[in-house]
Amino acid sequence: MTALSDGVCILVFGATGDLARRKLYPALYRLYRRGRLHERFVVIGIARRMRTKAQYEDDVRRTLTSFATNAPDEAVHIQQFATHFTYFSLDIADGSRFLQLASYAHECDAQYHTAGNRMYYLALAPELFELVTAQIVQSGLRASAGWQRLIIEKPFGYDLASATALQRHVREAFAEHEIFRIDHYLGKTIVRTLYDLRFHNIFLAPLWNRQGIAHVQITLSESLGVEERGSYYESSGALRDMVQNHILQLIAFLAMRRPTATTPMALRQATTEVLRALIPYGDEEDVRRHVVRGQYVAGVVDQQPVCAYIAEEQVSPHSTTETFVAAKIQIDDPQWHGVPFYIRTGKRLQKKETEIIVTFHPHMQGELSSSRSGQATPPQLRIGEHPLDVSWTCHLPSWRAGAQTTSMKLHLPDTTGETDLPRMNDAYERLIEEALDGDATYFVHWDEVAASWSFIDSITRVWHKDPTDLTTYVAGSKGPVASDLLLQQDGDEWYDANTPPEATTVPQSTQVDKESCV
Ligand code: BG6
Repeated sequence: MTALSDGVCILVFGATGDLARRKLYPALYRLYRRGRLHERFVVIGIARRMRTKAQYEDDVRRTLTSFATNAPDEAVHIQQFATHFTYFSLDIADGSRFLQLASYAHECDAQYHTAGNRMYYLALAPELFELVTAQIVQSGLRASAGWQRLIIEKPFGYDLASATALQRHVREAFAEHEIFRIDHYLGKTIVRTLYDLRFHNIFLAPLWNRQGIAHVQITLSESLGVEERGSYYESSGALRDMVQNHILQLIAFLAMRRPTATTPMALRQATTEVLRALIPYGDEEDVRRHVVRGQYVAGVVDQQPVCAYIAEEQVSPHSTTETFVAAKIQIDDPQWHGVPFYIRTGKRLQKKETEIIVTFHPHMQGELSSSRSGQATPPQLRIGEHPLDVSWTCHLPSWRAGAQTTSMKLHLPDTTGETDLPRMNDAYERLIEEALDGDATYFVHWDEVAASWSFIDSITRVWHKDPTDLTTYVAGSKGPVASDLLLQQDGDEWYDANTPPEATTVPQSTQVDKESCV
């Protein structure tokens, strides 16, 4: 059993919102069930609307019931867990009410013996980040005896200038080491695996550079549309929503050098170096040739007809917001010179998919690089998410047809091994646990935010000038044709997620499928 976290008072700003209910409460509950949350914890839910403690407890209980296991005593656990929740209604602009919150939090500290440790979780619209952090200081809320940690959700700014301004304000209230910026992809097993795969398999190290790798493809596709987030998405689009954070972080983990030490700072330094080395796009022509932006029109997804983006709620009928981005990204580093990182992401695509495909140079495979059909088959490493799945292109000798290409799959289930709970699959649980432990390794440092915005700005600067440069795709498709052309101009192609190029030519009996645990 791992150690208990410290006693803590968790203040959730935006307590009645979707994010807190869908992500935070289930994550805290699982930590509680795994024995990782101390009995000495209290959650103060904070939102504008009026609620009593009993009503809020009841909300939490009802939210958790949908995540519960079939364990006979689950209802009892939920009941006990919910007693740690209390509620405080607050208008964030109201300074005197904030003063009352500060004294209420001090009372809670005493009642739950939290030692004055405070975690502030901002599940709020980003426009409120500045005000709320200022109020936390001015009200004396953060003047408690223990540690202070601020958990902040994306988006952290809209571009480099706004992110820098926000950083300045937040830093007036919290030191950098107290700020935990969440990118939930950094809590996912796929990211943690990248590190282990790269640095704990010595045979990969000599191949992990421009001599070994021809190109890398990253696909984060979604079949969902913008759901109820039309208004947020209108100002974000796929580039800010998915590329600036999740995709660039994946590139950073794929391309970073081995950290010089096993400390959070060393890892963040290694990823920051990659983000700083991303080659910004130059002029309009550069962006036009290397970045594709698309928007979905009506189509069929999962056999259901769906509307066009511009017909979604809270979306302008004239919107030029992109719901799809594909790009060729390059890194200014001798190790990666000439290695394209092709990325694509979008809403309302054929299926939900997260996959990284690393394609090695065919010559790394020598004479075995031909398939039965005589076509060259590049050796590949594929890393997918659900369940975490690593697959290699490998060759199987067969007396009938000679060497054949197939994929060897390793399904790597992620178990807690601690309780009767089902396997841990949620990035939030991992990240909240680490934040409670004060471990910021997998949270985004300001230097990374600044570097990634600076790269993204090189695209939006051009898009801003010419918002009509937008292609369309049919909902339920694989995205715009322009995305295929992007790779074709380099003589490359997208490999379809979960369909290794030659897998279909291999008889079932020769498939290698290994189950193993990490
Ligand atoms: C979020 C985006 O950061 O990531 C959403 O704001 C997107 O638009 C989500 O749907 C995708 O996350 P996941 O874990 O489902 O791949």
